[in-house]
Amino acid sequence: MHLTTKEEKILDGEEGKAKQKSMQILAALGDIYNADKLIPVTSAHVSGVSYKTIGDAGLEFLDDFAKDAKVCVKTTLNPCGMDLKNWKKQKIPVNFAKKQLKIIDCFKRMGVEESYTCVPYLTTNRPEFGEHISWAESSAVCFANSMLGARTNRESGISALASAIIGKTPNYGLHLDENRIAKVEVRVDDQAKALSAALGVGSCGMFQIEGVTPENAADIESRISINDGDFNDYLKNFTFNKNKKKELIAVGCPHCSLNEIEEIAGLLKDKKVKKDFWICTSRQIKKLADERGFTEIVEKSGGKILCDTCMVVTPVEEIAERVIVNSAKAAYYLPGLAGVEAGFTDLDEMV
Ligand code: F3S
Repeated sequence: MHLTTKEEKILDGEEGKAKQKSMQILAALGDIYNADKLIPVTSAHVSGVSYKTIGDAGLEFLDDFAKDAKVCVKTTLNPCGMDLKNWKKQKIPVNFAKKQLKIIDCFKRMGVEESYTCVPYLTTNRPEFGEHISWAESSAVCFANSMLGARTNRESGISALASAIIGKTPNYGLHLDENRIAKVEVRVDDQAKALSAALGVGSCGMFQIEGVTPENAADIESRISINDGDFNDYLKNFTFNKNKKKELIAVGCPHCSLNEIEEIAGLLKDKKVKKDFWICTSRQIKKLADERGFTEIVEKSGGKILCDTCMVVTPVEEIAERVIVNSAKAAYYLPGLAGVEAGFTDLDEMV
């Protein structure tokens, strides 16, 4: 990949260690994927914020990196491992909380916005059509490419952070017109945010919905249809209440929108939950839910609205043995990442 004279100097360490490391990461990616050059990005969204997912090695890296790293574009953060205000109520172990707070401190020192959500496009980081961005978090990547027409590859937490420090990303993949053409036609009914998350579990970084996706270039090579039978087969992978395992009911993967919280509050009104019931969202959306009276209804029922975190990146295994979700992404990740059983169903049945 071609680097300008200024970029070469950064690579040689003339602007400090953090910028040098960031440029090394971007240059290596550019070489691997045959990018011609680096292009400017307008924002970055960084994942790998939970102590559960990055551990001591990640914390050590961030602590060292933060010594001279400063982001130079708008940079938001994915959920961390706990509700930063109510982690004790969430029953998070103290040792985990201490490490998580150290990670948060590293990001603060770098100047990252304290968003802690996987739906930055619903709060403070919503790119316009055609903007080049560098986002980690596969569900947000799918949404940004497919629903907004912004352009990002599926970055890792580290490569998105490197882009945040340099303000650029290698020009390859979904930044290029020729890679944004649909090749596979899938016939299915779903919701955009949930669909973005489910597709993001695989290798997909973009989909097109006719009449919705701002770009519509297709050169279909294969066709797949998904019917009720396929869906029912998928549901057979999950168990419900077959034994007396401690269950947690958790909504909000990706983080709930205000409309979703309104719907849940409507379902919970005048009811009492008999199991732990979590609604995961961002702090900004929770504030709106407070103002509209939805939080009060949820809390009266015994449910909890958790901010800054989600059922997958929090140490949920300390709290439950089985987690019931309405998200294909969460159902996929929970057994592997947390060692708990997952149940998958719709919101009505969860309530
Ligand atoms: Fe978001 Fe956690 Fe799901 S980060 S997409 S709620 S796994």
